Amino acid sequence: MGMKVKVSRRAHFNAAHRLYCEDWDDEKNAEVFGKCSNPNFHGHNYELIVSVSGAIDKQTGFVMDMKILKELIKDKVEDALDHRNLNLEVREFKALNPTAENIAVVIWNKLRPHIASNKELEVVLYETPRNFVTYAG
Ligand code: NI
Repeated sequence: MGMKVKVSRRAHFNAAHRLYCEDWDDEKNAEVFGKCSNPNFHGHNYELIVSVSGAIDKQTGFVMDMKILKELIKDKVEDALDHRNLNLEVREFKALNPTAENIAVVIWNKLRPHIASNKELEVVLYETPRNFVTYAG
């Protein structure tokens, strides 16, 4: 295949969550999850970077059409997660703690079927400006 290039699109969504383990009492949850365990939920301003890697198409000069990637992120991620309570409103987190790690995996799984199979997909999710996670399958 030769040359491989990575293209990236930055996106943003706000969402509320609560991190907790139902096997633990409030004290233990507070100890492990800190403020993220607040029973009344709280929000984060999530920053998302979606990257697609692969060969440059000879005709278009693109690895992937960024208009299509932008629409995909809007349809599959922003419309599903923006201004949602992740625990209560998003099916994937009914039985899955909405940590940044798990949110990144859920986002990757939502996007992967829509990216050409000969391209690699990577998701970087910032829960705060200093804390971020990376998932690439
Ligand atoms: Ni939190």
